[in-house]
Amino acid sequence: PSVIVDDQKFSPGIINHMIPGGNIVEHLETIRNIIARDDDVLICTYPKSGTHWIWEIVSMLRKGKAEYDPRIKETTMLEFLTKEQIEGLESPRILNTHFPLRMLPKDLLDKKRKLIHVMRNPKDVAVSTYHHFKAMGTGDNAYLGTFSEYLSLFYALEVGEKGGWNKYVTDFEKFAKDNPDYPILSLYFEDMKQDPKREITKVAKFLDVPYTAELITAVAERCDFENLKKANQEIKDDFITRKVAPDGKQFMYRKGTVGDWKNWFTVAQNELFDESFERWMSGSELKFKFVL
Ligand code: A3P
Repeated sequence: PSVIVDDQKFSPGIINHMIPGGNIVEHLETIRNIIARDDDVLICTYPKSGTHWIWEIVSMLRKGKAEYDPRIKETTMLEFLTKEQIEGLESPRILNTHFPLRMLPKDLLDKKRKLIHVMRNPKDVAVSTYHHFKAMGTGDNAYLGTFSEYLSLFYALEVGEKGGWNKYVTDFEKFAKDNPDYPILSLYFEDMKQDPKREITKVAKFLDVPYTAELITAVAERCDFENLKKANQEIKDDFITRKVAPDGKQFMYRKGTVGDWKNWFTVAQNELFDESFERWMSGSELKFKFVL
């Protein structure tokens, strides 16, 4: 995840060691200058909001077959690729990133390439990112704090000038409002969970690909949490897990539910979060479901 925080509980190398060249500033410049192709699609998400899930759905819909991509989605993730690697990807490229709107490739935006933004309720995002950071690496590389401590970090990011979760999602909301003719599809993790076929149909229409009811049903089933998790273990070469979780334990597919936050937030933490959420989202029309 492209979350950079000044906190001793994070090992300084945890972000930079994943970035080509190890220099985030240079890398951001490279990404900003990527040249668009006609059939590019760009998936944008705040970390842990369903990126793997939507990436696989888009991949299947573009192929017109409910077959898993043998690669993991990180093979087309802007954070991890050099300019040459991005240029070397086969078309159609299904690019994906957690970089915020202002850091996206300028040419893709100027040429109005299709953009899919998936959002998830921030309580589950907080729980899921917490587990992600804890699982990334062991010993020196892992996040060593408690959930309470992590929650303070989550808040610290929200109030920062560059913003955290709330700025990420509301920037996209504003962009869509200000550019009504821009092809952007905004989806919610919770809706995908509640009615996968309906949401997958939206994606197919947005991508303008031919589809049948059978294809949508098959994609929904293949991309169901348990099946996708299994496919990741059995079919894909998950080099990211091997690289960042030396115990080799898969952590990208953890629970895949709506409302796991209830197992983590205390009553007081929840009240504080609700108050903060209202403040962050004043002026926004985004509607999040925290439970189904
Ligand atoms: P949890 O940690 O709550 O389980 P990302 O892909 O953006 O990193 O998001 C990861 C989150 O999405 C994890 O959440 C993961 O389990 C969940 N997820 C991945 N595939 C899913 C699927 N097919 N259905 C539901 N949730 C899924």
